[in-house]
Amino acid sequence: MPKLPDPTIGDTSWFVHDRFGLFIHWGIYALPARHEWVKHVERIRDEDYQKHFDHFYPDLYDPTVWAREAKNAGMKYFVVTSKHHDGFCLWDSALTDYKATNTPWRKDLLKPMVEAFRAEGFKGGFYHSLIDWHHPEFPIDGFHPMSDDVEFREVQKGRDIRKYAKYLHGQARELLTEFGKIDIMWFDFSYSERDWGWSKGKGKDDWQSEELMAMVRELQPGIIVNDRMEIGGDFKTPEQYQPRGWMEVDGKPVMWEACQTLNGSWGYDRDNLDWKPVEMLVQMLVDTVSKGGNLLLNVGPNARGEFEPKAIERLRSIGEWMRLHGRSIYGCTASDFTPPPDCRYTQNGNRLYLHLFSWPFRHVHLDGLADRVEYAQLLNDGSEIKMRVIDPIQEANLVFMSGTPGTLTLELPVQKPAVAAPVIELLLKE
Ligand code: GLC
Repeated sequence: MPKLPDPTIGDTSWFVHDRFGLFIHWGIYALPARHEWVKHVERIRDEDYQKHFDHFYPDLYDPTVWAREAKNAGMKYFVVTSKHHDGFCLWDSALTDYKATNTPWRKDLLKPMVEAFRAEGFKGGFYHSLIDWHHPEFPIDGFHPMSDDVEFREVQKGRDIRKYAKYLHGQARELLTEFGKIDIMWFDFSYSERDWGWSKGKGKDDWQSEELMAMVRELQPGIIVNDRMEIGGDFKTPEQYQPRGWMEVDGKPVMWEACQTLNGSWGYDRDNLDWKPVEMLVQMLVDTVSKGGNLLLNVGPNARGEFEPKAIERLRSIGEWMRLHGRSIYGCTASDFTPPPDCRYTQNGNRLYLHLFSWPFRHVHLDGLADRVEYAQLLNDGSEIKMRVIDPIQEANLVFMSGTPGTLTLELPVQKPAVAAPVIELLLKE
């Protein structure tokens, strides 16, 4: 087996087993429906963004439906935005008026969500934005929607990050004391390396990350925390790209979780056409686990509180693949064997899973596996796959393939199984 990461402070045992989670980005940015950064991108002032708060009424919201869709997709944990960069809070925080309970909807949206997912057996927790474009003490920087307004910047230059940090810590305390057991906390994000000349980015000193982390771990022993507070964490979070191999820090493998969108946007983005095909999504999940990581796949529910049809369609197709192939994902990790081109291995003890991203004609050759495999079968239907070791001195001729030392050759049907990514389960000899 590959070298495993050192344990971290939090309990990652469930995390590295479950492998597949649902990310939910939901807030009043679902109304403009033009990406969750719309306030920044379109430089929208508070008074103009207010209309989305004033018209927030998610009448079709039923978190039980969300939890069922996620469960059917094969997901095992959820991470939901308690607050995104626009500062809007989904729960009834005592520390702000800028929350769901003050919109026309009037009700807390987070409690029922946590309850619904828990009822379906999910682990989970919160994405909580470190950034806040609504809070009056959050100093204006280059990401702030008001960053171009020099006059506003001048008037607001007395903002005190320490007062904001107090609010941030206070809200984190609420999230970690009022919702029962929380397994994962996902803070977002630090950018102290940024320098706009007139303002600098923010990072651990601004968030008072060490204190925040200590409080989080004290309130929820065993919780795992991501790495975006600039002081490390239990796992790394590559975003919208697939790492080329197991992620490392200082040359050592670490726990990691790729976060990916269905269409390039996290928040609901009505006119977006960049939907990833199901095969690509399944391959991303496989690729992630083949490199020792997790996949947190996002859905951005709409303003009425539903997953849009294109998202549901994809979740269900992934779920159909997971129903047949979950064995090659849950409890699996990277393998030391090197797969053939266009293939990925995952491994769980003596079960090695060969995922074929393209379907070759009749044969696939597995280097290093001659005499190592007891039995081989297609996972989607449990049908036997015949194995051969071709004599290495055999030369290719009219009808025979040549052999190479140590190679196991599998005989495949000409027809690719009708699944998003076929998997062959190889039972290794003890
Ligand atoms: C980012 C973005 C954001 C998204 C997130 C997910 O850094 O600011 O909108 O919530 O990452 O990883």
